[in-house]
Amino acid sequence: MLEIRLAVEQTVPDTLALPVGKGARTGESGPGGELLPTAYAADRAVREEALAFISDVEHTGGAGVVHTLARPLASPRRVLLTGVGAGDEAGWRAAGAAIARSARQQPSVTVGLPAAVDPAAVRGLAEGLWLAAYRFRVATEPPDKAPKLASVTIVVDETGRYEPALAVARAVAEATMLARDLTNTPSDRKSPAWLAERIREAAASHPGLSVVVREPEQLTAEGFNAILAVGNGSVRPPRLVELSWQPPQARTHVVLVGKGITFDTGGICIKPRDGMRLMRKDMGGAAAVAAATIAAAALNLPVRVTALAPLAENMASGTAYRPGDVVRHYGGMTTEVLNTDAEGRLVLADAMAYAARHLDADLLVDLATLTGAQSVALGKRTAALYSDSDPLAEALAEAATAAGERVWRMPMPDDYRDALDSDVADLVNSTQVGAGSVMAAMYLREFAGTLRDRWAHLDMSAPAWADSPDRELVKGATGWGVRTLVRWLDRVAGEAPSGVPVEAAAS
Ligand code: BES
Ligand code: MN
Ligand code: ZN
Repeated sequence: MLEIRLAVEQTVPDTLALPVGKGARTGESGPGGELLPTAYAADRAVREEALAFISDVEHTGGAGVVHTLARPLASPRRVLLTGVGAGDEAGWRAAGAAIARSARQQPSVTVGLPAAVDPAAVRGLAEGLWLAAYRFRVATEPPDKAPKLASVTIVVDETGRYEPALAVARAVAEATMLARDLTNTPSDRKSPAWLAERIREAAASHPGLSVVVREPEQLTAEGFNAILAVGNGSVRPPRLVELSWQPPQARTHVVLVGKGITFDTGGICIKPRDGMRLMRKDMGGAAAVAAATIAAAALNLPVRVTALAPLAENMASGTAYRPGDVVRHYGGMTTEVLNTDAEGRLVLADAMAYAARHLDADLLVDLATLTGAQSVALGKRTAALYSDSDPLAEALAEAATAAGERVWRMPMPDDYRDALDSDVADLVNSTQVGAGSVMAAMYLREFAGTLRDRWAHLDMSAPAWADSPDRELVKGATGWGVRTLVRWLDRVAGEAPSGVPVEAAAS
């Protein structure tokens, strides 16, 4: 992981990044960017060259726009004039990502921040730097090909005020990178047992986290039959991970459930090859809820969190479950399996039923790469949000926006509900209605029990993966949901269980 430190020092670096705001300065081609004064006092020559260069290249100051001023015979040797847009957290996040890319072949870079800037700037900048510098590789590569950037110095007017923001950014970035690592890992390694062990290991670094992993014997004894059915086609048996963070001051208990299909072939209703190629990402929800819970512990958030990750590999084999099978879920509800490729909702249903019956939760949120229909409706970067609770939906949407992840609230029309009825069981796992993401959400809702009105579902099928670099995202797993969940948990930690802010509830 990139080393990022705060400093007040003024040594002259080889590579310097200076912020350019979307200024009021108007040139011939419209409004231009404005060089922002920084706590790093660049000498006069540097500032004058930078000012002339910004106007010469018509720098817009747009968030993440970088123009590199090369000064081959001078020091600093290069100045990255980096757009921060409006200078809010999102602008600085984009700037951080752009600096990480522009400086990837330099061993270090110094970034100047405006004096007395809001600490959110440091959080955004650091998150952008860490997340865009992230890489996942299985094979080693020749040293000349590997990126060189190893350390970043953020120059501020005083370090103390910004240390907490940097610490939060570090915990969030670490958790996001954990989720990315797990999701990027090829499924030849990534069995349910492997994934459960990685979560156990990651949790072990934080005292106060506890992990229980249920193996098939115990899943059978307790009746988690849908997890067992989905996992039965694989020689690598399923697991249920229960990860808990239980700080003494917590007044609210949040249960997070994440879909953990370590590979989804579709089962007997097998997927065509193009639809199967990336199905190692089908545990992105499980990775996100586990990583967010670890971040809650790292940040010592005063909220109780339980992450449930049902893990299974959905394979086609002589022992696989079949279309037409009826599975009896944890707690007794039954589902007629019309499509073995609608496996995610089956394993989530067991975990949600368990949460609703046994975990005494105040709020229940599930994350899942659940349907191809999500991206048809909302595209690659916007997750589908479902909830019958306006305050919960709004809080999650606000957290997502602040985190730089996007969600859009979707409807669950009452008159679609009948389509989930089965002739032989309580429910079917697939319908002819067409609204695939909506129907999956309405199916899950049936398992929320008494938490029905305090439940939300995030269908993050497409956002879990990036096909190309995009701001703080690199190609591959995005770790989608970690940042949204940590923001939201932080907010919940400051509220009474009813959703009312603590101070207001007390008075
Ligand atoms: N894991 C898939 C959904 C998915 C598709 C995630 C593409 C990410 C990218 C899920 O298990 C699935 O196969 N869903 C089916 C449901 C259908 C059979 C009702 C789908 O969306 O086609
Ligand atoms: Mn599937
Ligand atoms: Zn799936």
